[in-house]
Amino acid sequence: MRTQILGSGFVTGQNLVTNDQIARMMDTSDAWIRERSGVETRYYVEQGTTTSDLGAGAARKAIEDAGIAKEEIDYIVFATMTPDHYFPGCGGILQDKLGLPHVPALDIRQQCTGFIYGLQISDALLKTEQARTVLLVGAEVHTGFMPWTQWDYLLGRGGEPPTPEEKAVYTSFRDRIVLFGDAGGAVVLRQGEGDKGLLGFQVHSDGANFKDLYVPGAGFARRPYVNEADVREWRHVPEMNGRAVFKLAVGRMPEVVRELCKKQGVPVAEIDLLIAHQANLRINEMVQRALGLSNDRVYNNIQRYGNTTAATIPIALDECRKSGRIQPGNLVCFVGLGSGFHWGAALMRA
Ligand code: ACO
Repeated sequence: MRTQILGSGFVTGQNLVTNDQIARMMDTSDAWIRERSGVETRYYVEQGTTTSDLGAGAARKAIEDAGIAKEEIDYIVFATMTPDHYFPGCGGILQDKLGLPHVPALDIRQQCTGFIYGLQISDALLKTEQARTVLLVGAEVHTGFMPWTQWDYLLGRGGEPPTPEEKAVYTSFRDRIVLFGDAGGAVVLRQGEGDKGLLGFQVHSDGANFKDLYVPGAGFARRPYVNEADVREWRHVPEMNGRAVFKLAVGRMPEVVRELCKKQGVPVAEIDLLIAHQANLRINEMVQRALGLSNDRVYNNIQRYGNTTAATIPIALDECRKSGRIQPGNLVCFVGLGSGFHWGAALMRA
């Protein structure tokens, strides 16, 4: 028996936002963003749409795709780094939105590796018969991190442009802002007979350098955990050492894929499709080269959605399942690295 994907689905924020629109808010350009990250567009939610809303939208599509009644779900795993509230996490809120009272709901927070950790946890729950049908969701609303107030102007709905002073402040966050988008992805998992399904996992964490990508404020390391000084000095916005993260990602991701393939006794060259976390197209191109995989063996969609953190892998997976990029019998490898730092890979026989 192996854990199999019965269904998948995703939703994005309501508003498509181009690089040129972002360039209205700060000193950046479509050319820079494309060249350095590969991102062309991303989606932002309307104010009021939350991570659990996107998770619920994705979950409904995955349940429909699986062809099951929602009541068959007996465990929810929710991965996000942008929960609706500091607590409780999104799992229980999603459970209520889906109308699944008393179904256990587990929140995990491994950021960009959330979906891979989620697959491993779900597999363990299913194999040990703690659950029969798991709903695994990865969703994010990153727009709460954005520093501006001129949303109407950004979206072309009138409104006032930012002042030069405000633009200068927003520009100080430009390395991060351009990368992110809002979306949710979900899968329904169940044990099934045959060769098809999840083969194995390799995950790692290393908290030593967490400050290379973290939110310094809005946490219980401080009293009160949200305070005026933190907000005034922008400590509620993530800090990132982009070059360090880039270097870590291009080293750790190929390494963990090789480690997992060795453990599973399959040559890396047998991977039919690599679905990597979508943080930066340049990172993924280097990972592809390091693993010696041809273009037809990797899938990237960061161009359209940007980095949607826990949602990138289920979105790419859903697109590949539905477009025929994944064929029966294919060996599919998922890999990711994110804040924490956490990184990992999973292998699946389609
Ligand atoms: N537009 C225009 N110029 C910019 C922008 C921008 N959006 N961002 C940075 N620059 C400028 C910098 O200010 C710098 O200017 P300077 O030379 O005058 O000082 C120049 O471009 C080069 O900056 P670098 O930081 O060296 O640019 P780099 O090529 O490294 O690209 C980037 C930056 C895109 C952030 C890259 O480092 C990266 O993708 N890093 C990894 C990010 C990542 O994977 N994050 C983890 C995922 S998120 C998660 O886990 C939650």
